[in-house]
Amino acid sequence: MSFGLISNIIQKEGDQTPETLLLCFLRIKVLKVIIDKDLCKDCKFCEVAIACPGQDECTACGSCVITCLFSARKLVKDKKELLIVKCTINGQQMQVPSHQTVLQVLESLGFQITSYPTRDAIFAPCRTGGCYSCAILINGELKPSCITPVSENMSINTQVEDQAPKRVVSGFQGHHVGGVGTPKDLIVQSPLGYLEVACFASGCLYRCPTCQNWQITYLSNIQPLSPDEAAYRLTAERKQYQVDRMAISGGESTLNRKWLIQFIEQLKKLNSDKDARIHIDTNAAILTPDYIDELIEVGMTDIGPDLKGIQLNTFIKITNQKSKNLAKKYLKTSWNAVKYILDKYSGKVFIGVGIPFNRTFMSLEEVFEIGSKLTSWDPRIQVTVLDYRPEFRVQAIDRPSYKEMLLVKNTLEESGLKKIKLKVTRFNESIRIIIKD
Ligand code: SF4
Ligand code: SF4
Ligand code: FES
Repeated sequence: MSFGLISNIIQKEGDQTPETLLLCFLRIKVLKVIIDKDLCKDCKFCEVAIACPGQDECTACGSCVITCLFSARKLVKDKKELLIVKCTINGQQMQVPSHQTVLQVLESLGFQITSYPTRDAIFAPCRTGGCYSCAILINGELKPSCITPVSENMSINTQVEDQAPKRVVSGFQGHHVGGVGTPKDLIVQSPLGYLEVACFASGCLYRCPTCQNWQITYLSNIQPLSPDEAAYRLTAERKQYQVDRMAISGGESTLNRKWLIQFIEQLKKLNSDKDARIHIDTNAAILTPDYIDELIEVGMTDIGPDLKGIQLNTFIKITNQKSKNLAKKYLKTSWNAVKYILDKYSGKVFIGVGIPFNRTFMSLEEVFEIGSKLTSWDPRIQVTVLDYRPEFRVQAIDRPSYKEMLLVKNTLEESGLKKIKLKVTRFNESIRIIIKD
């Protein structure tokens, strides 16, 4: 991947022009973070989870604003005077404004930044320092440009094609239940009662107010792992828990493509036996056919795309995606991914689809519409309905009752689906109900 440089802004050779510096200053929005003391509950999540340079050096990266559970942080205009910082970008001496992230500086210089992967643009989907898609060489080390402040004499290099990728991954553990992409009729082989082992990648491109995994999604304050390191750790877990299935979830597992492909390649090498299964849970928002082909080619055997509705309004409500065009693109890509896998890999790759349910964001009519569409493709596709509980920023909703979830199951059955799995809460514990066909 090479990141495009707008040649009319930065000359290919020689020093930066005064006009470039001026443009750079003009394009930068001077912002700061304020904390609403009435809203802040002093939960300390922003302090422990985020790699923040500190209030004095705040770059207005916005990571803490995205992450705060109680929406207590806001970005507001600031009057602070920006200083000039000297740095080198792709070998060229530059002067740029202080109190900015490297990504903000690059954007102000004309680099293309994108939230949907395209060639020659820096893909920066999470903006919270977890996915490392935006990582570039900063003083010789791969660092996420979205949260790293620019500093005096910094050396920045956007050419990272030959670098080993990194990503924040945590929560390596055994699982009794499995995820959306775990076959429902799997028999537990492990004498310890585990079904699979899993790890969780930080960073997501959605901003779901009911994020069910926010502690992982927004965690950036730990050392990132190379694909090899993560594969060794998951393989060790497999041995410890005596299972054949190895899963990666998130956050959104697919954001950093190079990392994920190398991780699966390495997992496959370390687990070359015929029983090993490699499972990805994903929201499928950027899962294009060529990406799916590549994942399968390197060793993915099971996949669980989570579809956040079928109606655009529902999708926007669930994911809090501000750009309608981007929301359309994500939603379309995720549904197309399911169809593509069913058409091209039926019988070769296991696919189980997830649907989040809570009556505050999805009606039974929409559940029926989802079921009907999936039925028209393959009535035997496994569908797991997840009962979305009050979580993250949304506490004022009820977790769907057991009866309500049975109603959802009936609705999906009426639409023609044959394999439905419910994840429901009964007697205060999370249990899995498997509906036999
Ligand atoms: S995450 Fe939000 S509520 Fe929690 S301490 Fe930080 S600002 Fe306060
Ligand atoms: S996380 Fe980013 S926006 Fe928040 S205080 Fe730190 S530098 Fe500023
Ligand atoms: S966009 Fe920078 S780490 Fe994800």
